Amino acid sequence: MYDFEYYAPTKVAFGRNSESRLADLLREQGCKKALLHYGGGSAEKSGLLAVVRSAMKEAGVQWVELGGVKPNPRLSLVYRGIELCRGEGVDFILAVGGGSVIDSAKAIGYGLANEGDVWDFYEGLRKPEGCAPVGVVLTIAAAGSEMSNSSVITKECEGGDLKRGCNSNYCRPRFAVMNPELTFTLPDYQTACGCTDILMHTMERYFNNGGNMAITDAVAEGLLRTVIANARTLKRAPGDYDARAEIMWAGSLSHNGLTGCGNCGGDWAVHGIEHELSGQYDVAHGAGLAAIWTAWAEYVYRDCLTRFYLFAVHVMGVRPSGTREGIAREGIAAFNAFLKEIGMPVTLTELGVSPTDEEYRAMAERCAAAGGGSKGNAKVLYAADIERILRNAK
Ligand code: NZQ
Ligand code: ZN
Repeated sequence: MYDFEYYAPTKVAFGRNSESRLADLLREQGCKKALLHYGGGSAEKSGLLAVVRSAMKEAGVQWVELGGVKPNPRLSLVYRGIELCRGEGVDFILAVGGGSVIDSAKAIGYGLANEGDVWDFYEGLRKPEGCAPVGVVLTIAAAGSEMSNSSVITKECEGGDLKRGCNSNYCRPRFAVMNPELTFTLPDYQTACGCTDILMHTMERYFNNGGNMAITDAVAEGLLRTVIANARTLKRAPGDYDARAEIMWAGSLSHNGLTGCGNCGGDWAVHGIEHELSGQYDVAHGAGLAAIWTAWAEYVYRDCLTRFYLFAVHVMGVRPSGTREGIAREGIAAFNAFLKEIGMPVTLTELGVSPTDEEYRAMAERCAAAGGGSKGNAKVLYAADIERILRNAK
């Protein structure tokens, strides 16, 4: 068991009609002028932005707007946001949307609170020393950014974009409004991508070789079972409020640090590899994770056998008879079948991606380099291992 620091300062307003709390939450922040930041149109279409605008008025907050955040949010819009906010004297950023909008808001927040190029933080050249305050109205349960310390941004580059994350406690949102009803309008594919990402945030922490804690494992396994069961429910009944609520809260708990307390911090290789994929091909994050997971698990499970055995028995319901290795393999097969059941791709081909030899090599090398030469903890992976996993995922 490792020592740990747990910091989850985000105030959560959860449940039906929780947007009605927004004016009070804004008042509590004492902000004068906000940036209202949003995505490609879903929040306007659903009428949510109209509700948010009237809450801003009610709270006496002035605001400017910047929409158009794309999934896998781009650095160019972050730069525009920083410039706009500086010019307008913005002192608070309200993100209305999912992980992409929230991460873009956090990046703008870093830009406002620090000198120099904000991309330095994503490349790991410098550490941020602050972040302008960010609040969230969440519209998709997935990335967990509404409570996480993370922001992931894509820099547009010739020959393949670069997607990188920056982690610091400064960017944890001040508040998050979470009304599960706001997720009713999600396409089934995005719902499934979100469920996959939520599962992976806990699985990345669970599959490790560095210490564990019974309470953390119990929380993690319970969360995984809950998300799997409710993802199945949403597949047949997307309008099931309780299932939406279970998934939404699991999304926050999965990535706010709770399911990593007492362990070494986890593996994160699947995320590292996926970030190369979505940087290169602009795929949905959850789908990219699903496409790689089985190839990764088959490659590493022998080096992390106890955790794969426990995952099989405690999460996937595999009967504990036979060899531990056989049971671990059954667990991997059962999770692969679950991903297919909810409509996720389980190979790169199904994801619609077919890298060239050069692209396989380049993604693997970039992934290893981003991890300081290797990635992972369940099994330490070097560029050659990562390339093999990517090729096995074909
Ligand atoms: O842009 P709009 O029109 O809003 O459409 C979005 C987008 O196309 C749509 N959507 C969102 N809410 C909706 C809706 N459509 C209908 N009804 C609603 N209520 O869904 C699409 C995906 O949105 P996005 O914000 O991209 O999804 P998600 O929350 O999965 O975020 C993905 C991004 O987060 C990063 C990913 O890499 C990716 O860039 N991550 C961020 C993390 C973090 N900050 O802690 C951790 C994750 O591991 C992840 O890397
Ligand atoms: Zn993720």
